[in-house]
Amino acid sequence: MTPDRIVSIVKDTPHTPPRRGRQLYDFILQTPAPRCLELGFAHGVGTVWMAGAAEELNGKVIGVDILSAKERLPAAAQLVAEAGLDRFVELHFDPISYTWHLQRNLDDYAAEPFDFIFIDGAHTWDADGFTFFLCEKVLKPGGWILFDDLDWNYRGSAAAMSNPQVQALTDEEKDLQQVRAVWEKLVLPHPAFGNFTEDDGWGWAQKSLSADAPKVFRVTHTQRLSIADRVVRKLKATF
Ligand SMILES: C[S@@+](CC[C@H](N)C(=O)[O-])C[C@H]1O[C@@H](n2cnc3c(N)ncnc32)[C@H](O)[C@@H]1O
Repeated sequence: MTPDRIVSIVKDTPHTPPRRGRQLYDFILQTPAPRCLELGFAHGVGTVWMAGAAEELNGKVIGVDILSAKERLPAAAQLVAEAGLDRFVELHFDPISYTWHLQRNLDDYAAEPFDFIFIDGAHTWDADGFTFFLCEKVLKPGGWILFDDLDWNYRGSAAAMSNPQVQALTDEEKDLQQVRAVWEKLVLPHPAFGNFTEDDGWGWAQKSLSADAPKVFRVTHTQRLSIADRVVRKLKATF
C-alpha cells in the first residue's frame, strides 16, 4: 500500500502523525522487518502505517491494547478494514495489560520472534520497564525495538492531569519522564542491545547479533520542523 493511500485513510486520527507514520513505514520496508508487534495501538494509526509496509513484505503486525480500546472511535479494526489490511493485522484486546498478553504468548512468540517491536502504550516505569525485558525474549537477534515518548510525563499532559487517578499519583510519578527512565536505566546499559538512536522523542535500539557488537549511540532530529512548518503551526494555533 502506498503512503499516500495510508494518509487518505488515517487522515488526522490520533496519535501517530503522518511524518512519524511514514518513518515507521520506511523503516519496515527498508530493514526489512516483516514481523511486527505494536504494544498500544489505540485507533490503529500506527498499525495501518506498519501494516501498509508489512503488506509489501507479506508480513504481519500483531497489535495489543486493553479492552477499552474497542470503544474508541474510529476503532482500530475499522481503520484496518478500510485500508483492506485485515490479512496482515491481528488485534488483541487484553483484559489486563500487554504484559499479560506477553505472559500468555511468550513461548509462541519466542518460537516465532519479531523483527520490530513498537512500544507506545502505558509510558510508565512499572509497565514498560517490565515490557522491555519481555520484549527482549521475543525479539530476533538483529531485530529492533522502538520507544515512543521518551520525554513525556504526566505533568506535561493536560488530558492526563484531568484524570482523578493521575491526580492521586505522587509528584515523583507525575514529574518523571518514565519512558526515558526505562531507556536510560534499562535499555542503554543492557548487554544484548546496541545501535541506539534517539530521534526527537523516539528511542531505537537493536538487539545485537553478537556479544562483541559495537555499542553505538546517535542523536538525530528527523522531526525538527522547517521554518515554514513552524509558521503554519503558529498560525493554526492563533486562529
Ligand atoms: C498513544 S496510544 C497508542 C498510539 C498508537 N501506537 C498509534 O500509533 O496511533 C497508547 C495506547 O496504549 C494503550 N495502553 C496503555 N497501557 C496499556 C497496557 N498496559 N496494556 C495494553 N495497552 C495499553 C492505551 O489504551 C492506548 O490506546
